[in-house]
Amino acid sequence: MQVIVTIDALRAARAAYGPLGLVPTMGYLHAGHLSLVAQARQENGATAVSIFVNPTQFGPREDFARYPRDMERDLHLLAEANVDLVFAPTVSTMYPEGFGTYVVLPSADEVLEGSARPDHFRGVATVVCKLLNIVQPTRAYFGQKDAQQTVVVRQMIRDLNLPTSIVVAPTMREADGLALSSRNTYLSAEQRTTAPVLYQALDTARQRYAAGERAGEALRQTIRAVLSSAPLVSPEYVSVADPLTLRELVTVGREGALLSLAARLGSVRLIDNLLLEPMA
Ligand code: PAJ
Repeated sequence: MQVIVTIDALRAARAAYGPLGLVPTMGYLHAGHLSLVAQARQENGATAVSIFVNPTQFGPREDFARYPRDMERDLHLLAEANVDLVFAPTVSTMYPEGFGTYVVLPSADEVLEGSARPDHFRGVATVVCKLLNIVQPTRAYFGQKDAQQTVVVRQMIRDLNLPTSIVVAPTMREADGLALSSRNTYLSAEQRTTAPVLYQALDTARQRYAAGERAGEALRQTIRAVLSSAPLVSPEYVSVADPLTLRELVTVGREGALLSLAARLGSVRLIDNLLLEPMA
């Protein structure tokens, strides 16, 4: 496994490979990240993983400084997973003095994570665009866990004619339903016990949908009611939206829906979502 920190060295190494799958990450890897790596390995001749905690996607009051980092452990896990290339640039490599070009999708800032986290998707789109230009992968792998991120990256790839295909992989969960996240390490024991209520709330709404409920507000209300049973949990938003436009739905139609939420447990902010699949 080659571990590369400069852009020139990455470009030189890339030339030796044909079809390449890239899994962009911020490190502190867990089984969710590794499931993307496994899928990339199956679908491409070679696999690259980037590890970069991207400062431009964190707000001024967010957790950039304390975001968990453990490069040694990450490299060990990636070597075991038979990754070919790891790109782990420094902040000044990605954002040198005088950096001034951003990729902005104004529509992303109007809903869900975008409205809760100003400039978050500007940072995500900018760094993913840079990573795709540097690594030039055939396919890039993203988790459904960050549903709006997949919508943003898909649109950016289309709008900017980037020659990479996006692949979206399912959310990996703990046995009790909690979606795997590097931020789960922030949870106290008591918060960790409560955290699966996020998934339970979404799953309860999915069951109501399966039983015939189609009203967006009734499904949102179902999610809110389950969350309110957990006093440690403060919901930030609860959404039943069109899976492509992410606009809130009055009625769930044939296109299905994205059920999603963000909630705080103390100072820890978690997100989760479930897709109600489109009907045939
Ligand atoms: P990070 O949070 O490290 O996640 C890297 C990738 O792993 C993302 O595509 C994310 O959706 C996926 N992922 C996270 N948890 C998952 C889970 N439980 N199951 C399946 N996939 C999961 O997302 C980012 O980093 C950054 O925004 C990045 C795209 C790297 C840009 O900086």
